[in-house]
Amino acid sequence: MQRHSISLALAACGFAAMLGGMPAQAEPTPEEIINGFEGVLGPVRTHRPSHPKGLCAAGHFTATAEGTRLSVAPVFNGQRVTTIIRFGVAGANPQADDRARSTRGLGIRFETAAGDVWDMANISAPIFGAPTPQSFLENLRVRAPDPAAGRPNAERIAAFVAANPAVTLQGAWLAATLPPASWATTPYFGVNTFRFRGQDGQVRHARWVFEPRAGVARLTAEQMQSLPRDFLADEIRQRIAQGPVEFDMVLQFPAAGDDLTNPTIAWPEDRPRAVVGRLTVTSAAAGPGGPCDPISFMTLDQEPGISLSDDPTLQARAAAYAVSLSRRTN
Ligand code: HEM
Repeated sequence: MQRHSISLALAACGFAAMLGGMPAQAEPTPEEIINGFEGVLGPVRTHRPSHPKGLCAAGHFTATAEGTRLSVAPVFNGQRVTTIIRFGVAGANPQADDRARSTRGLGIRFETAAGDVWDMANISAPIFGAPTPQSFLENLRVRAPDPAAGRPNAERIAAFVAANPAVTLQGAWLAATLPPASWATTPYFGVNTFRFRGQDGQVRHARWVFEPRAGVARLTAEQMQSLPRDFLADEIRQRIAQGPVEFDMVLQFPAAGDDLTNPTIAWPEDRPRAVVGRLTVTSAAAGPGGPCDPISFMTLDQEPGISLSDDPTLQARAAAYAVSLSRRTN
């Protein structure tokens, strides 16, 4: 199986130099990031510290001819690729409320017939909650309980937020957007920017979104009151019993001047797009657990067809996911 090892993940994400010596910038280490989660949540040893509530599902992915043209990565070879999927609910609570104005998650592991593996984790918001790994970590640290008071220090949080307004953007988007009515009726955004090498040898920056073929449907204010707090798993099981749930994978390409390294800034809607594949979800687990549990859905390069951009928030992810996975499975 041509899976990258953790050490390769560290190297690919620019963490190897950092772990071996002085970082060029004060980038947090993956351990510091996971310690940041644990400062807020306490030690997390049984579940993931982000999107702990979730449901395993399975299906397949097939690239379109346009996808094969735009990426020489094995996943885009046009053959049917097996997928292990995890639908999630954001936050730190394994009993999170499915009706909350938080993000929903879509983790996907692609496994080609030849044994190539590629993972990704997507969210139902077009933007992330922090512009840099440093601000992500600081945002966690200021929310840790103050040892003297036993609770987070509201003044410190307010001062941090005032100095880092970008950390409020995702929350503002979520506050203005009703939650998805189903895991099957929301777009899921990759948020970070990647590089795709096409059959023509050209390398193009792109972001992706999985568009629901069922259309976008959101809860009404009335449903946010009346539905059970755990409605999502039953809803998608019933939906899949009627037929597969499908998403189109769509690439969006930037115009000159669009930000390539800050995931709190979405690109304008009118940027060129290409449908590069179809994800088909054919089954969902009957209960908790399953093959998605021991996967952390960390995105690595799939050279030469897909590579990480210079977005530091993307580069910080894989190694942090690896540390998180190792702590919750060892
Ligand atoms: C500094 C940047 C980030 C850090 C440090 C970070 C950290 C983490 C960690 C530690 C986990 C749990 C991994 C595990 O134990 O398996 C996780 C899960 C997740 N993250 Fe991130 N993340 C970052 C950025 C993002 C972004 C930009 C997105 C949006 C595309 C995202 C979406 C998700 C999702 C959907 C999951 C849950 C996946 C699942 O269902 O297993 N994260 N993240």
